[in-house]
Amino acid sequence: MLLHIPEVLNPHEVARLRNALDLAEWTDGSETVGALGAQVKRNQQLPDASPLRHELGQIVLAALARNPLYHAAALPARVLPPRFNRYADQGTYGNHVDGAVMALPGGAQVRSDVSCTLFLNPPDAYDGGELIIEDTYGEHEVKLAAGDLILYPSSSLHRVQPVSRGARLAAFFWIQSLIRDDGQRRLLFEMDSSIQRLLGSGADQRAVLQLTGVYHNLLRRWAET
Ligand code: NI
Repeated sequence: MLLHIPEVLNPHEVARLRNALDLAEWTDGSETVGALGAQVKRNQQLPDASPLRHELGQIVLAALARNPLYHAAALPARVLPPRFNRYADQGTYGNHVDGAVMALPGGAQVRSDVSCTLFLNPPDAYDGGELIIEDTYGEHEVKLAAGDLILYPSSSLHRVQPVSRGARLAAFFWIQSLIRDDGQRRLLFEMDSSIQRLLGSGADQRAVLQLTGVYHNLLRRWAET
């Protein structure tokens, strides 16, 4: 499932991140991928150990914590600390699939089920830089407003088009979901959205309660914690 979540960050948070990233010291992004990825990845990242990465990551995680749409869609069990990247001067990241298992700072491992990119500057600030995601329906081109997030299955082939003017700034991170399977996660998301709409429509309360029970019992049946 591909989902656009608007206004994850408010304009104040976007400005705070942008101001910090404008002064940041960047490193070569190919350092955090394997040999295959390094052949196609040409961008910059905040170093993993940088205090700034941690500080800005906390702002992103706090914004996610208050976003019900994100929780309903991702059903997060574990989230890797956000990273920040910058594409400029024809910077690009060719077709790749994200690594399946990643290490947390303490050594624990996280399976990547859901990938997220949070756009940090406006689309008219740079040319190119579209995130292209391939799924069974074809290719989807994504270039969002500053503060907006795209959520997509980590299993999908994707790339970032070369940036020919300006710079593209984004945060990105991976989630191990309570629900490993993308199709099951999508069903739960659609049922949850439907229940929320019924709650606001004055529908029969007993029927809504019953449907809510079905949602939680499916979650109980499928969830891995
Ligand atoms: Ni990727």
